[in-house]
Amino acid sequence: VLEIPEFAHLAYEVEEGLALVTLKRPEALNALSQDLLQELAEVAEVIAQDPEVRAVIFAGEGKAFAAGADLKEIAALKDPFAAREYALLGQQVFAEIAALPVPTIAAIHGYALGGGLELALACDLRVAAKGAKLGLPEVGLGLIPGFGGTQRLPRLIGRGRALDLILTGRHVPAEEALALGLVNRLGEDALEEAKKLARQILKNAPVALALAKESVVRGEGLDLAEALEIEADLFGYAAATEDMREGVRAFLEKRPPGFRGE
Ligand code: CAA
Repeated sequence: VLEIPEFAHLAYEVEEGLALVTLKRPEALNALSQDLLQELAEVAEVIAQDPEVRAVIFAGEGKAFAAGADLKEIAALKDPFAAREYALLGQQVFAEIAALPVPTIAAIHGYALGGGLELALACDLRVAAKGAKLGLPEVGLGLIPGFGGTQRLPRLIGRGRALDLILTGRHVPAEEALALGLVNRLGEDALEEAKKLARQILKNAPVALALAKESVVRGEGLDLAEALEIEADLFGYAAATEDMREGVRAFLEKRPPGFRGE
């Protein structure tokens, strides 16, 4: 039986294969304290071990998704070595989230700033509510993004667009974020839109989803020829699944497929 720890700063629930992780520090706009980061690492571990979970949504309670790293804790970081360790902690937690084998979606409402946007960037997909604001305001504080923002944002939207956000620190409206490719979809309600997207994903074969994500993730940073070899290997794995036989048979028989994740 999977042990689910008691969380103080987030809520975790799973319904029909869809896990929902809700940040719960609304009084601080879900600022990512070290305790909250620690719990995000723990919840990622739970998700990674739970075969029932087929997709994950990250959301925030209250007025915002997350307004960044906790500035009260950052104010206490006077020593550059301690600050480096602090950045490494956040990077490690977000790396664990990015490495989850199942599709992950950030449901952004209100604000996703600094570490909050970096959490969303560690997810596979981002959905925003109209009116949401996204940004990396760190340079306005004399800092730089430290939980992956200077690396994941340019990889996602390109160097020039990323440097616009990183060097101005401006709050990007959701509509512009959509045009930039920073978010995938807009909706009236971020969580509803994220659930809609998750349902669309979950119609597909589970092993194929994991292999497709793995192919994209492992190919990053490799040259094209090497990355294409990985794609061919994983295509081979996918073709060996029962679900592949079922998917193709269902197509030929003109009926919806019944995938079993095998
Ligand atoms: N850390 C700690 N507390 C925060 C916070 C943060 N990042 N963001 C907001 N809060 C707190 C506020 O201090 C305030 O608390 P009190 O009621 O106790 O004063 C409460 O949340 C509500 O915030 P505001 O009153 O400021 O709300 P607003 O609606 O007027 O403004 C906002 C909203 C524009 C998001 C503003 O809160 C803001 O600019 N927050 C900081 C954003 C930021 O700079 N984030 C980057 C942090 S650095 C970082 O993340 C580094 C990294 O890469 C790892």
